[in-house]
Order: sequence, then structure tokens, then C-alpha cells
Amino acid sequence: MTIAETSRKIQKRETPKDVFYTPEIVAKKHIDMIETIPSDIWYDDSKGKGIYYDNYPNEKKEWSEITEGKDMFEFNKKIDIICGNPPYSLINKILEKSVSLKPRIISYLIGQQNFTPHRLKFMNDNGYGLIKLHILKIRGFFGYSYICIWEKDKEDILTHETKNYYGELPLCENVDKYGNKKKIIPKILSLVEIQKN
Ligand SMILES: C[S@@+](CC[C@H](N)C(=O)[O-])C[C@H]1O[C@@H](n2cnc3c(N)ncnc32)[C@H](O)[C@@H]1O
Repeated sequence: MTIAETSRKIQKRETPKDVFYTPEIVAKKHIDMIETIPSDIWYDDSKGKGIYYDNYPNEKKEWSEITEGKDMFEFNKKIDIICGNPPYSLINKILEKSVSLKPRIISYLIGQQNFTPHRLKFMNDNGYGLIKLHILKIRGFFGYSYICIWEKDKEDILTHETKNYYGELPLCENVDKYGNKKKIIPKILSLVEIQKN
């Protein structure tokens, strides 16, 4: 199956498969990338089995996990760092919730297809700049994974646009300007042409 076919299959799933557990080595690497101070309160909004939560560097920490009756959308305590691997089907709602908690750092492991200019813009509009981006491959996860670290009142390390560009010319005769194969419509002879023949 091609990547495009797999991607289409994922988009058409009726029930999202959101429960992918992070390997411990990746969770530790992710946590180590965050610059922290001893007074920081860490928060894992989607704890799963606790692979992030259990590896946070101090004991001041909070968690949510829907299967244990703690919904992240009902969490409202003061925290400094959000760090984890959230359910990707809820990513917009999760970013909205995260910025509303006003932590200093928001950091997620997300799939490459979830890393979009609109989401970067949303974070910028809410005062968060992307300060680190680390790309890696986790076996069993679709495509590449991105460790994203946003910090309050910082500049983005990369630029982005939310505009769509369209090519002026088709790449080749059988392909339209969006790169899709053109449907070949058989030429129907008009009555005039039939009479001429
Ligand atoms: C991708 S898994 C990751 C689990 C864990 N963070 C890890 O890295 O191994 C996402 C987790 O989010 C949980 N979840 C989904 N919706 C939630 C919600 N509204 N509040 C809290 N947890 C939620 C799921 O039950 C699942 O355990």
C-alpha cells in the first residue's frame, strides 16, 4: 500500500486510532529536550500508561487520562510545562485547551501530517513560538513523528504560510494543475461533424 493510500485510509476511519503508546526511550529524549527549572510543575494531559509522567524530572506533576476518569478538557490547575503524546484526532481542541492553561512551555510529540501552518499560526496568535523541532521515526507510528516545543513569548525558529499556491501550468498533459490524473473523456462527434463525414 502506498503512503497516499494509507493516509486516505486513516482520514476515512470512523473511529480514530488514538492510542499509540510512546517508547520510553523517545519519551525520555523528549523530556530531556525541555529546559526546565526546579519549581516547574509538569503536566501530562493524556497519560496513557504513564511513560511521560513517570519520567518527568520532578515530583511536582499532574496528569489526565480519559480511561481513568480524568478528562483533560476539565483540567484547570496551574502548570508550567505540558509535555506528552496526545490523541491526534483531537489536536486542534488540545492546542486550544493547552494555551488556555497558559503554561510557559507546550510540547507535543505529533505525527508529521498534524504539523500544519494553520496550527503554527494558532500557536503564534496565542503568544507561543516554536523554539525546537525534532524529527524522528518511531516504528509502528504512521510516517515521521515531530517533537515540537513551543515557549511563551518566543519567536518561531521557522517561517510558514497558510496560503495555498496553485501552479500556472500542468506538470504534463495527463495531469491537471493539482497533480491529479485527468479523466479522458471520449470525444463525442457533434451532429455537424457527423454530417461532414
Ligand atoms: C496517543 S495515546 C498516548 C498515551 C501516552 N501519552 C504515551 O505517550 O504513551 C493518547 C492517550 O490519550 C488519552 N485520551 C484521549 N482523550 C482524552 C481526554 N479527553 N482526556 C485525557 N486523556 C485522553 C487516550 O486514552 C490515550 O491513552
